[in-house]
Amino acid sequence: MTQAFKDWTIAVTGASSGMGRAVARRLAAEGALVVGCGRNLLELKETERLIGLAQGRFLPIQNDLAEPGAGAAFVQEAAAAEGRLDAVICNAAVIDLDPIAKGDPSSWRRMLAVNLISVAEAFQAAITVMRPTGRPGWLVAISSLASRMEGMGLYGASKAGLNSLCQSLRLELEKDPIRVSTLIPGAFATNLGRDMPPETRDRFLREINAKGAYAAPDPAGRSAIMGLPDDIARAVAFVLTQPPSLNIPELVIRPQMDLTIPLE
Ligand SMILES: NC(=O)c1ccc[n+]([C@@H]2O[C@H](COP(=O)([O-])OP(=O)(O)OC[C@H]3O[C@@H](n4cnc5c(N)ncnc54)[C@H](OP(=O)(O)O)[C@@H]3O)[C@@H](O)[C@H]2O)c1
Repeated sequence: MTQAFKDWTIAVTGASSGMGRAVARRLAAEGALVVGCGRNLLELKETERLIGLAQGRFLPIQNDLAEPGAGAAFVQEAAAAEGRLDAVICNAAVIDLDPIAKGDPSSWRRMLAVNLISVAEAFQAAITVMRPTGRPGWLVAISSLASRMEGMGLYGASKAGLNSLCQSLRLELEKDPIRVSTLIPGAFATNLGRDMPPETRDRFLREINAKGAYAAPDPAGRSAIMGLPDDIARAVAFVLTQPPSLNIPELVIRPQMDLTIPLE
């Protein structure tokens, strides 16, 4: 693997699982000091162990991004680690797909705090650090195709809000060497569904079985209905290796087959 990110410091939210862990491993393998956060310290330590096995560098920070100011505090701590900040990958999110007519407003508030407000805080803090240096910087948000679909409850709204946040920020930063990219994944095999109600998980499984598909790669050769976290890590590395004179506003990444869950 190349050392494209040698001497870089990159902050990754949600580095204790799924895509965030894969992104952290990839960027550390290419030379970056990755500063990663999450609530679960044991899983962050596992990310640190995996990165250490490949001689990479990872600094775990336990936090709860639903708390006011946590997104900014995380980025400031990452920037202070070695006195520089090259990229911030806002990946952490929670998912609540409950129909809006039946949903729990306190769960919505928490989800919007993590999926949207913490990103605005983190990016604002990053700009404050990056701007005075005049050096290139990258702000990457992991959104979701749910932002463009119906039936995705307040989760879809949180991701549509994230797309809009990034769009506005791209305009604000047009004259700076700081690029803002929104990655828009389809379905990927991670732990995101762990807190879903069993009925919702069952609806996903029924759809997967009905299509005769499987998460990639499938030794039996069935079509891929879910991508892998490493696919997203590769896409993040691609975005970060483009020159700041190039704008990659949005990148939609989906597996071979679409996964949709029919409304109840
Ligand atoms: N998987 C998919 O099919 C899919 C599709 C489209 C978009 N996405 C997006 O991809 C991103 C990554 O999700 P994933 O699929 O990799 O799910 P995941 O395996 O559940 O990972 C989510 C990460 O977010 C962190 N997180 C959640 N709440 C947090 C909080 N309050 N404070 C700090 N960290 C928090 C989790 O860490 P802790 O549990 O340690 O707090 C975990 O590391 C998300 O933005 C998700 O919306 C996923």
